[in-house]
Amino acid sequence: MNYEPIIKGNVKEFSVKPNLLNYEEARESFSWDDIYKELDGLEGGGLNIAYEAIDRHAKTSLREKMALYWEGKDGNSKQYTFHDLYTLTNRFANALQSLGIKKGDRVFTYMDRTPEIFVAILGTLKAGAVVGPLFSAFGPDAVKDRLQDSGARILITTPGLVATVHEIAGELPALEKIIIVNRRKTPYELNENEVSYERIMESASEEFEIVKTEKEDKAIMHYTSGTTGKPKGAVHVHQAVMGHYATAKYVLDLHPDDIYFCTADPGWVTGTSYGIFGPWSNGISQVVYEGGFSASHWYGVIEKYQVTVWYTAPTAIRMLMKAGEKVIGKYNLKSLRYMCSVGEPLNPEAVVWSVEAFGLPFHDNWWQTETGCIQIANYPLQDIRPGSMGKPFPGVTAAILDEDCKHELPPGEEGNLALKSGWPSMFRIYWNKKELYDSKFINGWYITGDRARKDEDGYFWFVGRADDVINTAGHLVGPFEVESALIEHPAVAEAGVIGIPDKLAMEVIKAFISLKDGYEISDELIMEIKRFARKKLHAVACPKEIEILDSLPKTRSGKIMRRLLKARELGLSEGDTSTLED
Ligand code: PRX
Repeated sequence: MNYEPIIKGNVKEFSVKPNLLNYEEARESFSWDDIYKELDGLEGGGLNIAYEAIDRHAKTSLREKMALYWEGKDGNSKQYTFHDLYTLTNRFANALQSLGIKKGDRVFTYMDRTPEIFVAILGTLKAGAVVGPLFSAFGPDAVKDRLQDSGARILITTPGLVATVHEIAGELPALEKIIIVNRRKTPYELNENEVSYERIMESASEEFEIVKTEKEDKAIMHYTSGTTGKPKGAVHVHQAVMGHYATAKYVLDLHPDDIYFCTADPGWVTGTSYGIFGPWSNGISQVVYEGGFSASHWYGVIEKYQVTVWYTAPTAIRMLMKAGEKVIGKYNLKSLRYMCSVGEPLNPEAVVWSVEAFGLPFHDNWWQTETGCIQIANYPLQDIRPGSMGKPFPGVTAAILDEDCKHELPPGEEGNLALKSGWPSMFRIYWNKKELYDSKFINGWYITGDRARKDEDGYFWFVGRADDVINTAGHLVGPFEVESALIEHPAVAEAGVIGIPDKLAMEVIKAFISLKDGYEISDELIMEIKRFARKKLHAVACPKEIEILDSLPKTRSGKIMRRLLKARELGLSEGDTSTLED
C-alpha cells in the first residue's frame, strides 16, 4: 500500500503546555514537580488518586459537571456528575470500612462495565485499600490465581458472574465477603458470606474522610502475563496519578470541554489509567459504553454524545476498517477532533485509513501495565510517521540497549527497549515476587521486554517481544498459562503454545499438544479440549487452533521449544537446534 510517510498533526486548537510542537523545548522545561503542583493533595498532607479524580472537582465549579455518561448495552443510559460520584464513592468507602477493610487490604472487582465498577474502584482507593480489577471474561482459574496471590479480602461481583466464584470459593481462604451488585435486579439469593451492594450503599453515610495515603502507598494492582509462571500483580502507588494526569492532558490532549470516549475495559490497565484516572483527574466528561466491540454502537455513541477525543486499540481499528466506510456514513462523527490508539502495533495502513474515513489520523502510543501510563507517543502537533510509536513523553527517558542491556545502541539498530527508572507511575513491585521485579532492572534501566529501534529523528519503532508472550487483540497472554490449563485435560500429555499471525488480532493462539496413551486423535476431542480451556482461561487466552503431534520438540533438559514450534509453523529457519533432544 502506498502512503505518505508523514502525516501532519492536525489538532485544531492548542492550549496546553509544554508545547510539544517544539519537542526538545518541552523535554527541557518539563518537570514532575510541576505536575505534582497541579494536583491538590489531601488536606493536611498526603495524596490519593480518588481525591484527585473526583473530590477535588466536587468542591469547585465542576461539581455539577457530568463526569460519566453511561450507555448500557440494552439501550439504557445514565449520567453522573462529579458530585454524584463524590457521594457514591464516599458511601462505598464507608461500606468497606463497615466490613472491616483497612488501609493496605486488597479489594477486587470482577464485573462488567457498569457505573458500579467506577464507584467500587474509587471507593476502595478512598478507603486506603489496594484495588485489583479483574476482567469479567475471566474463567474460574484466572480469577482464582489472582485472588489467591493477592490475598483479596473482598470481591465485588454480580449475580451473572458469581457462579464462577462459587466454583473456586473453597480455595480462597483470604476471601471474607462478596459484594453482589444487582443493577438489573436479577432474582438472586445471597449466600452466607455475601452482601448486597444496593443494601450496603443505602445504609452508608455520604460523608467520608479519605484514609490518609501517601505518594508511595500502594493503590492499584493489575495482573499481567510473562513467559513463565502465573500472571503477576504489577502494583502502582498513589502518585501514579501524576502520570495519568499529565499524559491524559498532553498525549490525549484533553481540553476542559471535551467529551472523551475510551473503549478499554477497567479490567485491564488502559481502562483504569485512561478510563478513570487520566480523564477525571483532568475534570473531563467521559462516555462509557457497556458493551464490547461494535462498529455501529461505537459510532452511535460518538454521535449521541458528540465525542471529541477517542482512545481505542489497533485490533478494534482493524475491525472498524473491515466493517467499512458505509457504516460510518450512517452517523455524524464530525464532533471528533483527536484520536489515539494503544496496545499493539498500529499498522501504517490503519493510520492512513483513519484519515480517509474520519478525516483524522489515529495517534499511536506505547506503554505497559508495568509503566502505569503512556511512555512513548505521537503528540497532537507533531507529524506522525505511520507505523512509529512516536517519541518518549517529556519526563520519561527511553533508549534502545544492546543484548546485555549495558550500552545504548545507535539509531537504526534493533535492541531492547528500556526506560530510565523513576517516573511516578512506574510499578513498585510484582506482588509476592520481589526477585522477579528486581530482575527487570539493570543499571537503573527498566527493561521492558520489547524489541524496538529508534530512528535518526528520535521516533521509536516497535519490532516485537523479546520473550514468548503473545499479544492477541491487545491482550498479553503468557504461553505457560495456556499450556498449564491444557495439560490439566486428562487426554493431554504435553502442550506448547505460540502466537501465529492474524490479520485482525495481530496474533492468535495456537497450541500443539501430544496425547496420553489410550487417546485417539479426533475432531471431537479437539473441540472438547478447546471447551475445557475456555472454561479454565478466558476468551482471549483460548487457543484458536489445536494441533496434535506425536511428541513436542524439547531441549535436553525437557523444556518445550516454543521457538522451534513457531519456526516450523511459519516456515522460518529453525536456528540453533543444538540443545534439541535427540
Ligand atoms: O508489547 C507491547 C505491546 O503491549 C505490551 C504491553 O501490554 P500490557 O502490559 O497489557 O499493557 C497494556 C497497556 C498499553 C507492550 O510491552 N504494546 C503496547 N502498546 C504498543 C505495543 N506494541 C506496539 N505498539 C504499541 N503502541
